[in-house]
Amino acid sequence: MPSTCVIGTQWGDEGKGKIVDYLSEDADLIVRYQGGSNAGHTVIVEGEKFVLHLIPSGILRENTLSVIANGVVIDPIQLVKEMDELAEKGMDIEGKLAVSDRAHVVLPHHQRLDGLSEEWKGAKKLGTTGRGIGPCYSDKMLRTGIRLCDFDDPEIFRERLKEEVRLRNAVLTGVYDAESLEWEETFERYMECYSRFGGYVTDTATLINRALDDGKNVLFEGAQGTMLDIDHGTYPFVTSSNSSIGGLCAGAGVAPGRIGDVVGIVKAYTTRVGEGPFPTEDTGDIGSHLQNKGGEFGATTGRPRRCGWFDACAVGYSAMLNGLTYVALTKLDVLDELERIRVCVGYEIDGARIDTFPASLRTLAKCTPVYEELAGWMADITGARKTEDLPENAMKYVRFLEERIAVPVKMVSVGGDRKQMLTL
Ligand code: GDP
Ligand code: IMO
Ligand code: MG
Repeated sequence: MPSTCVIGTQWGDEGKGKIVDYLSEDADLIVRYQGGSNAGHTVIVEGEKFVLHLIPSGILRENTLSVIANGVVIDPIQLVKEMDELAEKGMDIEGKLAVSDRAHVVLPHHQRLDGLSEEWKGAKKLGTTGRGIGPCYSDKMLRTGIRLCDFDDPEIFRERLKEEVRLRNAVLTGVYDAESLEWEETFERYMECYSRFGGYVTDTATLINRALDDGKNVLFEGAQGTMLDIDHGTYPFVTSSNSSIGGLCAGAGVAPGRIGDVVGIVKAYTTRVGEGPFPTEDTGDIGSHLQNKGGEFGATTGRPRRCGWFDACAVGYSAMLNGLTYVALTKLDVLDELERIRVCVGYEIDGARIDTFPASLRTLAKCTPVYEELAGWMADITGARKTEDLPENAMKYVRFLEERIAVPVKMVSVGGDRKQMLTL
């Protein structure tokens, strides 16, 4: 059993946190490898709700080590806040966390520039989470970023920070006509945060590979979703990392051959938060029903999520890119009260069917979803714990999706709580 990876297959918020928590019962290490605090992963244990942004969802299990690997961009203030929130809820994280010394740090000017760039774009904004993710990854690629290993010598961090803030202030004031930032205050605050988690900072690639050598069970927790991937998603309405499986090797320092099962997390319908194309979006009654019943409000920003029918084109494309071993289907219970359920099985442009997912947003905008309709089950399935508990039409829906995306569904989630789950 080399390792398992959990990947979002749609536009994020598929329920990755819940499935990671479920699978981490048997895991030794849980590893986040891309994204940052733009993620919001919810886990509900016996009625208590935890929302994790940076710390892996496996932290809630005993005897697991939560690893934030090199590919994640880390906001130290958010990390300490999350550590404190867990402590307030009685979770002891002492000795349960490891953070990569190669991870890049999100700085206040990244967040400021994220917001200003959105304002600048006006109606063409991306609808980012405002967490500074794009500007931080841009600095990483520009080779001007600051990494956690720069913190162990405060003088080096001080000098690097001063240099960066000076440069970014020229952009803030000169381009955006905004206020400049003080580096001294950031230095103090960030060093204070570092004093809280510096003891966990280590070479996580070596840590993970040694754990795999020792036969330990490693679970990788993807953030965002494949349709938000910087290369494969609906660019430019994407995030700034590789949220498909490709992000794992670089983001954790793990070779492809060490990845075992790739579990695709698939929501039984579609949601998207932020701007960008969404072919099956329903802005009418169905959309608002899914939003209300599914509690579709962003775990990070609280924004309402746009909702619509299941899109087998998008998920099929995602299944191909990620080489999914199996699927965990989530939020099936949200469809409980619908008499008829539609599934998008293809797109048409000017009457012709296309069988790939278009690169160009202009092409995507011309696509009309082709739907097939199935009968609903009109029953409460939140108490289902085994296959036999699911109504016949619910099973028919699951089998239909399975056939369309050509990946077996092995797990079905029927509620937010850890226990509301069945394996097929
Ligand atoms: P993530 O970012 O992929 O981890 O997903 P989020 O936590 O942002 O959003 C998923 C939401 O759906 C959370 O509020 C979960 O508690 C909730 N959830 C997860 N699985 C189910 C399910 O099977 N049924 C219902 N009704 N809610 C679920
Ligand atoms: P989890 O891990 C849903 C979206 C934002 C925006 C776009 C770019 O909880 O599934 P960014 O702040 O990353 O530059 O924003 O990506 N986005 C997410 N949408 N779930 C997420 O994470 C997301 N992380 C980013 O809404 O459209
Ligand atoms: Mg989320």
